[in-house]
Amino acid sequence: MSKLILVLAGAVVFIGIQLVPCPTKNPPVETSVEWNSARTRDLFHRACADCHSNETVWPWYSRIAPVSWFVSDHVIKGRKDFNISVPGEVEIDEIVHKIRKGDMPLGSYLLMHPGARLTEQEKNDLIDGLKKTF
Ligand code: HEC
Repeated sequence: MSKLILVLAGAVVFIGIQLVPCPTKNPPVETSVEWNSARTRDLFHRACADCHSNETVWPWYSRIAPVSWFVSDHVIKGRKDFNISVPGEVEIDEIVHKIRKGDMPLGSYLLMHPGARLTEQEKNDLIDGLKKTF
């Protein structure tokens, strides 16, 4: 009996937290980037765009609380630091530094997006392309 109550309480909490509004809607894209090549664009979209543009692809699990809270927090903070979809400075030195150090993309993101892991060659190509683009 008490187990059933726990399960029910858990279900109620789980359903309840789904009602907390979570910003998994993308703001409009205000600027389009003149990529130096399709490869740079592809690499950036593979590894960075989900958190550094307004073209975030939200997987189904990213819309379910409490996962949605962590994911949207990363996206909001990432976009705040730099967002290729809105006008503003792109600090290329900082970007190069993050890619070289392996700080970006975030580890938790790579866990769920193994395809975002870049080889050394791909990192070099991305850095090179971003320098030419921005
Ligand atoms: C899962 C989301 C996510 C992805 C994917 C991601 N970032 Fe970030 N990025 C963040 C967050 C969150 C921050 C702010 C917190 C921090 O600095 O750790 C950030 C910050 C940054 C900063 C600013 C650092 C500073 O101190 O000002 C740079 C530059 C950056 N990311 C580059 C990249 C590049 C390049 C890629 C792709 C190779 C990438 N990021 C992919 C989430 C992400």
